[in-house]
Amino acid sequence: MQKIIVTGGVGYIGSHTLVDLIQNGYDVVSIDNLSRSSVKILHGVEKITGRKVKNYEVDLTDKARLSKVFEENQDAKGIIHFAAYKSVSESVEKPLLYYRNNMEGLYNILECIIQYNIPNIVFSSSCSVYGMVEKLPVTEETPFGEAQCAYARSKQHGEQVLTDVTKAHSFKTVLLRYFNPVGAHSSAEIGELPIGTPNNLAPFITQTAIGKREKLTVFGSDYPTRDGSCIRDYIHVSDIAQAHTLAMNYLIAREHFDIPEVFNLGTGNGVSVFEAIKAFEESTGQKLNYEVGSRRSGDVIAVYANNTKAKETLGWKLKYNLHDMMKSAWEWELKQQNS
Ligand code: WQD
Repeated sequence: MQKIIVTGGVGYIGSHTLVDLIQNGYDVVSIDNLSRSSVKILHGVEKITGRKVKNYEVDLTDKARLSKVFEENQDAKGIIHFAAYKSVSESVEKPLLYYRNNMEGLYNILECIIQYNIPNIVFSSSCSVYGMVEKLPVTEETPFGEAQCAYARSKQHGEQVLTDVTKAHSFKTVLLRYFNPVGAHSSAEIGELPIGTPNNLAPFITQTAIGKREKLTVFGSDYPTRDGSCIRDYIHVSDIAQAHTLAMNYLIAREHFDIPEVFNLGTGNGVSVFEAIKAFEESTGQKLNYEVGSRRSGDVIAVYANNTKAKETLGWKLKYNLHDMMKSAWEWELKQQNS
């Protein structure tokens, strides 16, 4: 079996990708310092796949320990690099933490890939690289906009570093730009596990509905959109995971190429905050307690994807709709309560 190293494998998208890789015949190992994830997620991956995944509890900024992991796994056919901080709002408050963690981690990973001749890398990027976009939907050719926060800028910089390093070395690179991952695996054995107060909309909705939070605040209803709230492209985390396996298949099958291939991972549907709340209520039968508050700094008004390239080049087929996203997020929240 071909081995794939997954950094951040115990995280939200990382764990769902472990499941998809295993179910598509790959062997996997994870590198995750568990600073923002719980090892119980690996138990969920094992329940779903029957496979016990080895996790190296190593911080990517600890180059010596990281190199040892690569020493033990230099037979890997590729690496999927998720491990990074990803909260828009937190990165506004703590930009230096984001640059230190996200960039130093990437530099160390790249040095190890070169040293141990790992031939393929899939990099976790983000629609936030587009900044405040004028023309929607965004395609992969839409140029970087002014980053609205350190998180977004760390992803822009990550893509630029990867473009230069890929050209100078022999590995191949895919950059995946996620839109808004939501939902949980259909088994409800794995899902999003925010540490402390959730930054993201979906977990805040489900935690409010289950009574962990008193109410949801909608961050602004005075935006120039159809109902005044921000528009995003919410996409099921399992569809995102599928795209990672397809991207790795694509890299392994291709001869060397110098310029990283970029793919948007969104549904192509823009959904407002109020529409997301309505979809949650209709999908779960739960009434949500929310109020409108002030805008959140770092938020872009609207962004959603043109996803044609991933569909045509990777053979990516979306399986889940907004109803599935909200229902699976709720079922995961319910499972937490009973565990
Ligand atoms: C969505 C909308 C908020 C919470 C995410 C990821 C980021 C990147 C891009 C992958 C916004 C509103 C939220 C709340 C609210 N993805 N909201 N009340 O900021 O788009 O970023 O997608 O790389 O990593 O975090 O997602 O879920 O925080 O916000 O009104 O309590 O919901 O204002 O309009 P965001 P989000």
